[in-house]
Amino acid sequence: GQIDYNQELSSTNNRGLELAREQSEIPIATLVLTERQTAGRGRGKNRWWSGEGGLAFSVLVNCGALKLPTSCWPKISLTTGLAVCDAIEKTIEVGDAKLKWPNDVYLSGCKACGILVEAPDSRRARVVIGIGINVNNTTALAPLELRGHAISLSDIAQQKIEPTEVLIQVLQQLAERLTSLARGTQDLRRDWHTRCLLTGQLVEIDLDTRHLIGVCHGIDDNGALVLETEFGIERCLSGTVSDFT
Ligand code: BTN
Repeated sequence: GQIDYNQELSSTNNRGLELAREQSEIPIATLVLTERQTAGRGRGKNRWWSGEGGLAFSVLVNCGALKLPTSCWPKISLTTGLAVCDAIEKTIEVGDAKLKWPNDVYLSGCKACGILVEAPDSRRARVVIGIGINVNNTTALAPLELRGHAISLSDIAQQKIEPTEVLIQVLQQLAERLTSLARGTQDLRRDWHTRCLLTGQLVEIDLDTRHLIGVCHGIDDNGALVLETEFGIERCLSGTVSDFT
C-alpha cells in the first residue's frame, strides 16, 4: 500500500475520491492521512465533527486487486464496522463495541465512530472507506446536538489513547475482514448479527419512499436490517435509522 499524507484536508474522503479519479494505476490500498480535517462529511447531508483529538482517515481500496466485485460493495460498511469494533476492543478495555446498522460503531450506548463508504464510479472498481473515530476528543466540548450521544475511547479508558495504535489496529483488522468479504466466509454474517446494537429495540427507519417502525431482529446474511412491523417482516438493505429505543 501507499500513504498519502496531508497536513490539512477538507475531507480525507474527498482526497481519496480525487486520487481514485487521477491515478491510472493504483496500489492495492492507499491510506489518506491528515493532521486536521476541516470539513469532514457524514452520510447524507450530515457533517462529521472533527474535534481536537479525533482520528480521521480514509482507505482507497483497489477492489479489482482485492477481488471485491460490486456485488460486495454494499457490505463494505458493515465489514469495516466489524474491523473497527475488533480494533477498539484490542486497544482499550471494553467488551461491548456494537454496530449501529449500517455504518456506526457504538460504545456504552453512544457513538464512537462513523464510517462513510463512497465510490467514484463502479467501473473504476475503486472504493473509498472513510473512518472517523473519537479517540481523545473531549466529548463534553462536542456541538450541542451531539453531546450525550458521542463518546471517545479516552472517555472510556479514562486516559489518553495513542491514535497511531488505533490506526494500526484498524488497518490490520480491515485487511483481514476485507479478505473474508472477498472469500464470502461465514464469520462476517455471524459477527454483524451478534454485534447489532438495534436487536430487540423499537426502530424507526426512513427508506427512499417510506417510513417504517418495527422491532429489530438483527442483521441478516445480506447485511439487511430485519424489522418486524405491522405488515410483517421487512428487510432493509439501505435507509437511515431516525430513532430507536
Ligand atoms: C457518519 O457518521 O455519517 C459517517 C462519518 C464519517 C466520517 C469520516 S472521517 C474520515 C472520512 N472523511 C470524511 O469526510 N468523512 C469520513
